[in-house]
Amino acid sequence: MTSEAPAAVVILAAGEGTRMKSATPKVLHRIGGRSLLGHAIAAARATGPAYLSVVVRHQRDLVAEHIAQVDPDAIIADQDEVKGTGRAAECGLEPLPADLDGTILVTYGDVPLLTGDTLNALLERHAQSDSVITVLTGDAPDPTGYGRIVRDADGHVAAIVEHKDCTPEQLQIREINSGIYAFDAHVLRTNLARVGTENAQGEKYLTDVLALARGDGGNVSAFQISDVIQTEGVNDRVQLATLGAVLSRRQTERWMRAGVTIVDPASTWIDVDVTIGTDVTIQPGTQLLGATTIGEGATIGPEVTIRDSEIGAWAHVRRAEVEFSVVGEGATVGPYSYLRAGTELGPQGKIGGFVETKNAKIGPGAKVPHLTYCGDATIGEGANIGAGTIFANYDGVAKHHSFVGRHSFVGSHTVIVSPVSVADGAYVAAGSALVNDVAPGEIAVARARQRNIPG
Ligand code: UD1
Ligand code: CA
Repeated sequence: MTSEAPAAVVILAAGEGTRMKSATPKVLHRIGGRSLLGHAIAAARATGPAYLSVVVRHQRDLVAEHIAQVDPDAIIADQDEVKGTGRAAECGLEPLPADLDGTILVTYGDVPLLTGDTLNALLERHAQSDSVITVLTGDAPDPTGYGRIVRDADGHVAAIVEHKDCTPEQLQIREINSGIYAFDAHVLRTNLARVGTENAQGEKYLTDVLALARGDGGNVSAFQISDVIQTEGVNDRVQLATLGAVLSRRQTERWMRAGVTIVDPASTWIDVDVTIGTDVTIQPGTQLLGATTIGEGATIGPEVTIRDSEIGAWAHVRRAEVEFSVVGEGATVGPYSYLRAGTELGPQGKIGGFVETKNAKIGPGAKVPHLTYCGDATIGEGANIGAGTIFANYDGVAKHHSFVGRHSFVGSHTVIVSPVSVADGAYVAAGSALVNDVAPGEIAVARARQRNIPG
């Protein structure tokens, strides 16, 4: 059974994050190709809420701008100067309809490993247990700093007590509050209005809602997960790296289970939006970033970084940097190649060692094998570009485009001074500096004739 979608998810992201020691707001730091907040939003969206509200305050404009990019339908709610998670939740409800019924999920913007599946399981437990509040909890290896789950004799949740407010006995409790909850909308709203700030930190605690709701006779339960790392927040850059590594490892495991061979998961980094076909082999030192897709049977690595690119089936890419490019089926790239934005290598094509390409369309079976700069060029099917060829695309003011026809042959160490057109089947002699077009069947020789001077 899948439970009903929540009326709203409220993501708390107003906190300062001082321990990051960064000019960038904490929730905009990235792991796995997404901001921390982006991960929180993706998990929230997986529950299909009618409203998604994100509470902001610290570096508000930067965070709000990011939210507008990632999720234009999200509602941005501003927290005022009153501090605490309770006040944040209250501010998050503020822009939503006052008569909102149903379930409201509250989560944090700095908890990147939490999955939509876990939130859906929390919703289901909430519905099944007939509770007014269900809190996501776990047994922390070190509960220091967390709110403790205080249970009554029946095992129900009696209260959550903050670390700083705990008695010595309560400090022994290992079960911690993740800060992630499902609330009955009405219970949350009415009880937040009753919460004060009389505690060790002078903040309005969201956790106080639990004891109040229980006092009113409501059922408060806990949903314990064993995968506690999902509830872990990022407070500093050590945690950022730790959770980033866990996320990457989870991605590599997911793809290995889907039929991808990953020789060395520890040195392989795969962003969450990457897709990989079956029987792909990934060699050590590979990073697959952004919205990259890898076709079936391809071999990637060793030492390859690919960003926002499409690699065709059975292609082979090794020791290369590839960004915003397309590599065709069965094509080969590397070693030591740099494919910049707008490179399109056709099926069975080749970009070889020490070749840099940019905005270059290289036809099926065409070869650019050695030591070449190929910028702003269209190269026809089956053409061969000799070693050391340079497409001089920039005249100091503007960029120009050149065309090299199908099955043409450009000799080594040629400079093609763009814009130039070399027709299908034409030849260019080695060492040429080409400034004029070449017609079909012609061979262009654009260099001084050799003179041998005796003595
Ligand atoms: C809170 C819980 C604690 C729980 C812990 C889990 C309360 C009172 N305590 O601790 O029981 O174990 O989370 O991490 O709720 N935030 C705002 N506005 C604020 C304060 C916080 O938006 O005024 C946001 C932060 O950006 C952060 C989250 O709420 O994403 C948690 O804040 P943090 O200060 O880390 O939590 P604690 O209150 O220490
Ligand atoms: Ca925290």
